[in-house]
Amino acid sequence: MSTPSVQTLILAGGLGTRMKSAVPKVLHDVLGHPMLWYVVDALADIDPQPIIVTPAANEAFRAAFGDRLTYAVQPEQHGSGHAVQCGMEHVSAEYVLVCNGDDPFPSAEDYRGFLDESLVEHADAAVLVAYLDNPDKLGRVIRTADSAFAGIVEARDARPEQLGIHEINTGVYLFRSADLRSWLVQMKPNNVQGEYYITDCLAMAVQNGSRVYCHVARDKWELSGVNDRAELALAASVLQRRKLDHLSREGVTIDMPETVRVDWDVAIGRDSEIRQGSCLKGNTKVGHSSIIGPNTILIDAQVGDETTVLASFVEGSAIGNNCVVGPFSYIRPGTLTAERSKVGAFCELKASSLGAGSKVPHLSYIGDATIAENVNVGAGTITCNYDGFTHAKHRTVIEKDVFIGANNNLVAPVTIHEGAYTATGSTITHDVPPEALGIARAVQVDKEGWVRRKKHGQ
Ligand code: UD1
Ligand code: CA
Repeated sequence: MSTPSVQTLILAGGLGTRMKSAVPKVLHDVLGHPMLWYVVDALADIDPQPIIVTPAANEAFRAAFGDRLTYAVQPEQHGSGHAVQCGMEHVSAEYVLVCNGDDPFPSAEDYRGFLDESLVEHADAAVLVAYLDNPDKLGRVIRTADSAFAGIVEARDARPEQLGIHEINTGVYLFRSADLRSWLVQMKPNNVQGEYYITDCLAMAVQNGSRVYCHVARDKWELSGVNDRAELALAASVLQRRKLDHLSREGVTIDMPETVRVDWDVAIGRDSEIRQGSCLKGNTKVGHSSIIGPNTILIDAQVGDETTVLASFVEGSAIGNNCVVGPFSYIRPGTLTAERSKVGAFCELKASSLGAGSKVPHLSYIGDATIAENVNVGAGTITCNYDGFTHAKHRTVIEKDVFIGANNNLVAPVTIHEGAYTATGSTITHDVPPEALGIARAVQVDKEGWVRRKKHGQ
């Protein structure tokens, strides 16, 4: 038997009013991706180009997902059944898998398992149901005396004894497309909300004598759907636990996991440790045997192997192998530090490179600088990269084996050539030749008896 064709239809046409937000509900961020991304990702194996039903104003959807989705608009919100109706014009496959866009929890395996078993059962309609400790506002599964599936009743429409049911509708369905079309036209908004419910199609299927398969999720379901900010926070914590569990199983030590935030796409090598209070966001990668934190923030950062980043903030930068950063340093976008380099305490680096074995150990600002290998930058040194007028920043070049004395001002554009030294307290305004000593400071003058004269008029 050849595999029947299946398209997927994601419902995101609701206004998500309970979020109280200008941002569409399913585009709210959960661990570095819009909530909807998790649904699209989990369905990718079944359908790489899902149909999404959105409200009429869907620019934000298009900006986030581009051509990855097929867009269907639901001009007015008349319920999930009406949303499916709006999406069906794009369905040509024999089957359509329908799911809610506000549910980032089902995995690719959950969708695949549901689909495969529903097809094996030759279902005309199928629904994925689960048991939940707190079913709250979710639709309850109604069964006959001999436990056959009879339909779904929304919590709002349920009788008190039905509210005691813990078996709930997860909002994932499979329909034979032709049958679904015939049921959709028969839907009636006979409920408290006056809406068209997709769930009513299941009851119709049962009444018509069609094959309706009710697939009970094997594992306990943690929650279903995100409708307000409290559930958004819960969603983040559920997915965070999955992410941290995965990292732990892969050999990463997470110290005090409840204090750590790691975005979904962050990669961390084995034997690395993420210490308490750290936050790793976006496209961050950490190599093996590195120590991140306590209290480090990495955003789109690449950190090598056997490197420590202690109580520091790194964004859009790459830190090499066997490096040390921190405590209390700020590495801004466009910075590259090569192996064995050190950025110590209270330093700010921006759009700069630091060569192998070079050190900026204390209290420096290094902006728009190219620093070669084996350079030592004295405490308190800054690059003066901005002249206060032009928009372009000027570059400082420090060649290899240079020693910059403490508290220097390097007035860019300027080059300190290979092997040169600069004296403590210098304001270097022009290039220093190779192996020269650059001194640029006032000569010390001692005024004998000056204090005595001031204090006592002598
Ligand atoms: C829905 C189900 C409920 C199930 C729960 C699972 C219905 C009637 N109820 O309830 O049985 O337990 O999901 O999480 O379907 N939508 C539209 N257009 C609309 C209204 C909604 O596209 O006019 C979309 C929403 O964007 C959302 C999905 O349909 O992604 C479900 O709507 P929502 O209002 O969240 O339904 P629930 O009350 O959560
Ligand atoms: Ca919902």
